[in-house]
Amino acid sequence: MNSFLSINDVENLPALVQEALEIKKNPHVYSDLGRQRSMCLIFLNPSLRTRLSSQKAAFNLGLDTAVLDVGSQGWNLEFADGVVMDGDKAEHIKEAAAVISSYFDVVAIRAFAKLQDREEDYSEQVMSAFKEYCPVPVINMESSTGHPLQAFADLITIEEHKKVEKPKVVLTWAPHPKALPQAVANSFSQWMQAANFDFTITHPEGYELADEMVGNAKVEYDQAKAFEGADFIYAKNWSNYKDYGKVVSKDSNWMVTQQKMQLTNAGKFMHCLPVRRNVVVEGAVLDSDQSIVIPQATNRIFSMQTVTKKILESTH
Ligand code: CP
Repeated sequence: MNSFLSINDVENLPALVQEALEIKKNPHVYSDLGRQRSMCLIFLNPSLRTRLSSQKAAFNLGLDTAVLDVGSQGWNLEFADGVVMDGDKAEHIKEAAAVISSYFDVVAIRAFAKLQDREEDYSEQVMSAFKEYCPVPVINMESSTGHPLQAFADLITIEEHKKVEKPKVVLTWAPHPKALPQAVANSFSQWMQAANFDFTITHPEGYELADEMVGNAKVEYDQAKAFEGADFIYAKNWSNYKDYGKVVSKDSNWMVTQQKMQLTNAGKFMHCLPVRRNVVVEGAVLDSDQSIVIPQATNRIFSMQTVTKKILESTH
């Protein structure tokens, strides 16, 4: 693996999941792999899990890390080509990426969708620029349209908890007061389909994801019907794709409740976190045995560690 930007960088998904499960059993077995090498974690947006799980994964591999919070510590970056930089952007990605790559062996980036211009976000301008101008491997820690490390951790978690070979997995839209990107939902949809699970997406009409992200997933507008017999319920809000970046519904009837979880096949509840209690999901669901959000977050270590291990091996 030379870089990890999306599921397209995965050659053999079942083998990758098995590797992650093996690493989880013995996390320090590759602690020499990262010796005398280092990774820079670049954040253009906030994070708790991604930042800490990435540092933990690097620690387990013997890899040094540095964290750059561009918003508070770095120069404001310009990504467009040929612009006159007389505004608030002090440094161009061309110089920044080249300099960072001269200090580190791997670069990982978080850069959320701005939700202003769909074409710009879906062109992955920021992640593509880092990929183009960094001569070292690049890891996506959530970009405009995808969060593959999260989806990989979600898949590891489902593999650990599933009771049948091909579980019914439901991604449900849930209300939220703010406009959120589609990245988590997009990647989850891609990875669940790549895993060949029985996969349904449920959301209010008008909240369709991009066609290329929906793929061959079933789309069910009746949330209760979608929940029937589900083995896993994955809740996530996303802002509107058609009326791009807008919050066109805050319908609290879409919140996941204990009552709705009873429609499932004793299904497990998942969310990537952070989650707003009693907005996205009833607190009682999170506090119940059905919730696996903490093991899911723990698996962020092992998705990152597996990806980083494969990159270090290919660049040794
Ligand atoms: N799920 C996730 O990416 O969490 P953070 O935003 O806290 O990193």
